[in-house]
Amino acid sequence: MSTRNAVVRGLGGALPRRVITNEDLSVTLDTSDEWIRRRTGIVERRHADESESTSALATTAARRALDSAGVDSADLLILATSTPDQICPATAPKVAANLGLDGIAAYDISAVCSGYIYALATASWAIGSGAVGSALVVGADTFTRLLDPADRTTSVIFGDGAGAAFLSAGSADEPGAILASTLHADGTGETLIQVPRGAGSFFEMQGKEVFERAVSAMSDSVNTVLARVGWATEDVDSLVAHQANRRILNTVASVTGIPESKAEVHLDRVGNTSAASIPLAMTDAAVKGHRTPGDKAVLTAFGGGTTWGAAAMTWPSISVLDPH
Ligand code: UT7
Repeated sequence: MSTRNAVVRGLGGALPRRVITNEDLSVTLDTSDEWIRRRTGIVERRHADESESTSALATTAARRALDSAGVDSADLLILATSTPDQICPATAPKVAANLGLDGIAAYDISAVCSGYIYALATASWAIGSGAVGSALVVGADTFTRLLDPADRTTSVIFGDGAGAAFLSAGSADEPGAILASTLHADGTGETLIQVPRGAGSFFEMQGKEVFERAVSAMSDSVNTVLARVGWATEDVDSLVAHQANRRILNTVASVTGIPESKAEVHLDRVGNTSAASIPLAMTDAAVKGHRTPGDKAVLTAFGGGTTWGAAAMTWPSISVLDPH
């Protein structure tokens, strides 16, 4: 029996103009380029200005994903973000309207750094079920607006940005097919990554515990989707793990047995861009051109909630614009 799968046909990214280097942060914070590089692998990140709202970045990334796919519309737009333009209404309808797609289904998903995996999985269910024919899956966050400028543990990691994919119905043997996904949440860890209730609160993260949970949750969910599609770890050509810390990427690779050289590394240039991290890392890998259509790829993330998940797919056959 032939199956109906969601297939990635286009990718796009968008980054704020302003580059903040480790040296820039060292001027106001008790930190150093040497510490940040050694403990996180991050060299620079981008900070959004007033005009670079979450919706503006999401719109640019989504438009680039449509262009990359050579299409001009989609049936559904899902925006993964935990930094919407405003609490009410959702930001996805505005992004759809900016694209001239008013009238389509458009909604936000809030799962912090796992948001993109949540959005991608739900879009692939919608396409796989036949409910829609195509979807734009966008991840966009501007967390730097919520950081405590005096908190060196969060300020060195986070950056702003957006990434997007266009998917449409196809078959499992096409390059870019989403083949399996797994999603999880455990709200008992809600205070590990949070913006506490109350006006003017800053973003807070318990870095050490998050590090440990991220490694085990991402490794477990990678193993789950690999088992589902019947791939051995040595078959994996590309590990697209949420870009929070280079040491987390390396540890997930070593725990799962996927060679470190297969891990996509984009955090050096953008830091942790939350829901944008996975599509931006995929866009960057496509720009670098070091993966081949049909390669076996595993995507995974862990974030606030706590939430985590993974997806297995084949590398799409696409051309992309460099967002840097
Ligand atoms: O996106 C959602 C998922 N998020 C993540 O996955 C983030 C996970 N966590 C991390 O990446 C790391 O825990 C951090 C990068 C946030 C912190 O790195 P760490 O290696 O876990 O540092 P630590 O908290 O164990 O601190 C080690 C030392 C401490 O000093 P003492 O007590 O040993 O004297 C910290 O005060 O490093 C110090 N430190 C810093 N020093 C210079 C912490 N941050 C900094 C800094 N610059 N920016």
